[in-house]
Amino acid sequence: MGKSITHKIIEKHLVSGEMVAGQEVGLRIDQTLTQDATGTMAWLQFEAIGIGEVRTDLSVSYVDHNTLQMGFRNPDDHRYLRTVAAKSGAVFSPAGTGICHQLHLENFAKPGATLIGSDSHTPTAGGIGSMAMGAGGLSVALAMAGEAYFIPMPKVVKVELTGELTGWAAGKDVILELLRRLTVKGGVGKVFEYAGPGVAALSVPDRATITNMGAELGATTSIFPSDDKTKFFLEKMGRGEDFVELIADADAEYDEVIEINLSELEPLVAQPHMPDQVCKVKELAGKKIDQCAIGSCTNSSYSDLKNTAQILSGKMTPAETDLMISPGSKQVMKMLAREGLIEPLLDAGARLLECSCGPCIGMGGSPVSAGVSVRTFNRNFEGRSGTQDGQVYLASAQTAARLALDGEFTDPATWGPAPERVELPEDVPSIRDLFVFPPADKSAVEILRGPNIVALEDFDKLSDTVEAKVLLKVEDNITTDHILPAGAEITALRSNIPAISQYIFSRVDEGFVGRMKEHGTGVILGGDNYGQGSSREHAALGPRHLGVKAVIVKSLARIHRANLVNFGILPLLLVDPADYDALSEGDDLIIPANAMTPGGTIDITTGSGKSVTVTNDLTKKELEIIQSGGLLNAVREGQA
Ligand code: F3S
Repeated sequence: MGKSITHKIIEKHLVSGEMVAGQEVGLRIDQTLTQDATGTMAWLQFEAIGIGEVRTDLSVSYVDHNTLQMGFRNPDDHRYLRTVAAKSGAVFSPAGTGICHQLHLENFAKPGATLIGSDSHTPTAGGIGSMAMGAGGLSVALAMAGEAYFIPMPKVVKVELTGELTGWAAGKDVILELLRRLTVKGGVGKVFEYAGPGVAALSVPDRATITNMGAELGATTSIFPSDDKTKFFLEKMGRGEDFVELIADADAEYDEVIEINLSELEPLVAQPHMPDQVCKVKELAGKKIDQCAIGSCTNSSYSDLKNTAQILSGKMTPAETDLMISPGSKQVMKMLAREGLIEPLLDAGARLLECSCGPCIGMGGSPVSAGVSVRTFNRNFEGRSGTQDGQVYLASAQTAARLALDGEFTDPATWGPAPERVELPEDVPSIRDLFVFPPADKSAVEILRGPNIVALEDFDKLSDTVEAKVLLKVEDNITTDHILPAGAEITALRSNIPAISQYIFSRVDEGFVGRMKEHGTGVILGGDNYGQGSSREHAALGPRHLGVKAVIVKSLARIHRANLVNFGILPLLLVDPADYDALSEGDDLIIPANAMTPGGTIDITTGSGKSVTVTNDLTKKELEIIQSGGLLNAVREGQA
């Protein structure tokens, strides 16, 4: 039987397990990336493992999230990241150089390589044929230490692309169409592998937009073949030697096949507050727009911004519509500058922001109260923009730029001719010298810390019987933004767990932290898809610090589930989802944790005599990790 690209890469990197869907496989990881928001903790964890230097082919530490330097906390973190990278043999990317995924695609990602990153949009590198997965910071720390990365062997979905994008349709519309069809839960446990005659005409940046936002499907990752377009891109980046052809065998078998005819796509938009609430742009015609934001790791490439400049050139946005543009990297910025494409942006009234995540995580650029913001980003969860009642819509760069001129949603049929599809200029400037490569002799490097960098606390082992109250009951689709809100004030505390924990569920239930302090331990009850969203491991570390012993839910999002395991919180699944209604906040629970077996059931009893049955999808090893009190304990004890 022929092999898919996914199977070929996994087979080459397999260190344990069998390639049978659902069974755990251990993978050798070639590359890692970290970003400052989650990476500071990952590096503290790497230090705690105590092996000295990274054992991957390449590890890169990017600073792109908290680049605003208000007070000492962020700059102290950046200095720590620079010095710990130098000491540990990793590459450092300073604040302002660009967004991790755009930079990694341009400078380091390789076809056929495995990459894990402490950021859920790491699959961006799938656009170049890397098997790239978002992971918890601790998993990344372990991969940097040369340990395998464990995942359930994914199912492989072939996305057969036919036809060709026409008019105003863009790569973003391909993934919005998939989200419309499959929803934010449609990709769990799956790799989306793109194939078919429609692939050849899609540029690497378009492909990277699609694989980036495969994360919103909940997918393990997404991947494109490595072909002539990949070769062209790598050669333009001065990395022609990194090219290898990587295509699926003609008789490869897949678990599912989905077809998308690119010729039929038209501009789409995801409506508030979920990336799968997708409709056609024309269906919203007449709705006023307060703000457009072009950038993020999803749509901030040269082609996105060149098209933006072409659309805006010689025109002006209305005074009521704020337009912000964040280039994905200094390389993109330099290419725009060389071609005289910055001036049309400025003259159209746009605000040119730093090459960083910026407004994507509410780091500046929040919309006005109840304001409508059209963004080229990948997420529009409630409150993520920094404005709790902001109405965020997700669209392509071309759509956002065109709508910025109209100041309201309009029918693309009235937009006139679409800008030409562009890839890269003849001469692409390098920014390689802006990265800080580690010195050969690291003995003189001193790791510099500040007062906000607090060493990790030790966590207790799991007790045989957990007795704790339900201290919070939440609905379906709780995101990591619900668990720990984003924003400058909070994320600046990312290397200080006692301080950041004070914000856990603060926008859902202000009293939660107080109740946890009062009782010392607690259980969270949740619905379906609990913990969806980002790889933010503080959304598990924070609750653990407060004393959360277990979450009992209908279903769990993949990365958050892994983070719960890593930090020793029991992820329990209701056998009968209707039992969600049988449990209430305030119930005293008795959980016979020592009776748990992988995949087995246990009965939880409440003080009032009720009983509910829960199961788990834990492997033997994961159960042992939780019993040890988390992965760091288990690694130190030699169990993992
Ligand atoms: Fe940054 Fe937003 Fe991407 S926070 S890494 S631009 S999802």
